[in-house]
Amino acid sequence: MDRLLIEGGRPLFGRVAVSGAKNAALPIMAATLLVDGPVRLERVPQLGDVATMEALLAQLGVTLHRPTDDSLELLNTDTSRRRAAYRLVRRMRASVCVLGPLVARRGRGVVPLPGGCRLGDRPIDLHLRGLVALGAEIRIDRGLIVATARRLRGARIHLEGPRGPTVTGTANLLCAASLARGVTLLSGAASEPEIVDLGRFLNACGARIAGLGTREIEIQGVSQLGGACWQLIPDRIEAATLLLAGLITRGVVTVDRCVPSDLAAVLEALATLGAGVRTGPDFVTVDGRFAQRPGSFAAAPHPGLPTDVQPQLAACLAAIPGRSAIQDTVFPERFGHVAELNRFGAQLCRRGDTTLIEGTHALEAAPVVAPDLRAGASLVLAGLAARGATVVHKVLHVDRGYERFAEKLAALGASVERRGQMATAWSPSPRLPG
Ligand code: EPZ
Repeated sequence: MDRLLIEGGRPLFGRVAVSGAKNAALPIMAATLLVDGPVRLERVPQLGDVATMEALLAQLGVTLHRPTDDSLELLNTDTSRRRAAYRLVRRMRASVCVLGPLVARRGRGVVPLPGGCRLGDRPIDLHLRGLVALGAEIRIDRGLIVATARRLRGARIHLEGPRGPTVTGTANLLCAASLARGVTLLSGAASEPEIVDLGRFLNACGARIAGLGTREIEIQGVSQLGGACWQLIPDRIEAATLLLAGLITRGVVTVDRCVPSDLAAVLEALATLGAGVRTGPDFVTVDGRFAQRPGSFAAAPHPGLPTDVQPQLAACLAAIPGRSAIQDTVFPERFGHVAELNRFGAQLCRRGDTTLIEGTHALEAAPVVAPDLRAGASLVLAGLAARGATVVHKVLHVDRGYERFAEKLAALGASVERRGQMATAWSPSPRLPG
């Protein structure tokens, strides 16, 4: 298994550009199952999860081709396939995003129930309830979701669950409603930038969606969607992670090609910690040299502090002397990083959905194991700050969501070296026929 060797204690300085957003790429790629005609996506990152979605779509009869390293062409060539393979779905929960498009465009979708997850209980009841409201017949058969519908029909659907809106649930229902007969009103919908990007892509294909970016989305169903060219939005979670790397190492880092307005809650957190923050049209600069203030934070649905930044922020709080706290109202079980962060000599403990943190300047290097994607990123940040040589094992988890992460950190002056069978870097997904 690949690992990262980090010589910590070095402030990061410089500029780095973020890649396209993983959590926009995945639903938009799944949405191409709805489309009759060629689709070209730009700024598609080369990530583990994107490679999984490419393989899943190929298995579902889509021909894919990467003309360049960050563009992807997709064309539905066999619409008879309607069953997603378990060997692929079990790798990634976001595979569930193919369900809505399959039912809407091919009349039937058979998708294995997503497996367990380190973030805690992650049901898909809201996805299924919404599809039933649109007229799909749903049954669970030996771990498989079997969803069928001759033609979906518009409906009023309230999507919000006990912990707020569902992002991929909104994605599934935006796709399904786009080809339904009549008007669908989604209330309590997710307003994340990635959902806005999905809706705008669907509109570029001929859908008629209004209210994107709000909790009330209206979809006027159409009979067919055509191909389109689309550039994905930048990855705001990667941007936040790189800014926090600047803060935790007491450096000055500029993240280019991002959307500062999508990072408002993160920039507010940086300022609360005493960092200097400067923004331009498509960049953010963090000055972490004097970031010394502890604080209390809560992760919440957009536009709140993203839960996908919560573990990385916890690492920063562990490196700031004083008492801090961070609550996660979206995934109250998202604490896979806590035990590993304590191996750096930090003092974190969990109280319900909150991590209580006694921060210290003196983080010490340690061998650690990445338990999942964002917890892994959190451990890399702690390793950058800790004195000595840290080894982060199972870094393939981090490869799922960060493109060329080690290279980007090294370009900012970090001493980061990858060891293992993919030591050169995360290799591009195998070229698929097309
Ligand atoms: C998306 O996951 C993201 N993944 C996650 O990012 C992110 O953490 C999450 O949204 C929250 O922002 C992708 O976009 C591919 P949810 P998703 O459905 O859609 C509950 C990363 O690191 N819920 O918005 O699976 C659920 O339990 C990943 O990039 C129901 O109760 O999350 C949770 O508490 C990790 N019933 C809350 O809603 C449902 O049917 C939000 O979950 C669905 C969800």
